[in-house]
Amino acid sequence: MSDKITKKLKLKVSAISEGTVIDHIPSENLFKVISILELDKTPNMITFGANLDSGKLDKKAIIKVSHQFFADDDINRIALIAPNAKLNIIKDYEVVEKKIVEVPDRVVGIVKCFNPKCITNNEPVTTSFKVIGKEPLALKCKYCEKITHEHQMVIK
Ligand code: CTP
Ligand code: ZN
Repeated sequence: MSDKITKKLKLKVSAISEGTVIDHIPSENLFKVISILELDKTPNMITFGANLDSGKLDKKAIIKVSHQFFADDDINRIALIAPNAKLNIIKDYEVVEKKIVEVPDRVVGIVKCFNPKCITNNEPVTTSFKVIGKEPLALKCKYCEKITHEHQMVIK
């Protein structure tokens, strides 16, 4: 197949002229990514697709945000729910930069503390953790100091 046809077949969501394409999001976490990046509040054009074939077994989602670029700190907030996400920075219809997400050193919100007695599970207090292990993930709560391990992690 020609390169052009392969590209067309892959292009399930229209190309954008300028902005950010967030690719390889697990489909089930698409709306969490939208919420964490506050895309539900952006005035910029957003297009997205879910349950797209990703080549691998799982289905992926993709989000395209026109005229918007993200700080690394913001983008790294999706690392826990979209660890394999790839960002493509688009200028003048061309991909000018590719970025991957990295697990940050602190996680604010997003995850619940594993300790049922923790204040964050009993009062309207936003969770905050220090990342003390990345693979597998281990998060130390700022409030109760208990550690939430990857297999215990519940997304808020
Ligand atoms: N893209 C877009 N608008 C453009 C250029 C690219 O929406 N003007 C999207 C493509 O559809 C693709 C992503 O940005 O989802 C990355 O583009 P490209 O690097 O050309 O695709 P691939 O080579 O398939 O990249 P990868 O293998 O990293 O997914
Ligand atoms: Zn706690």
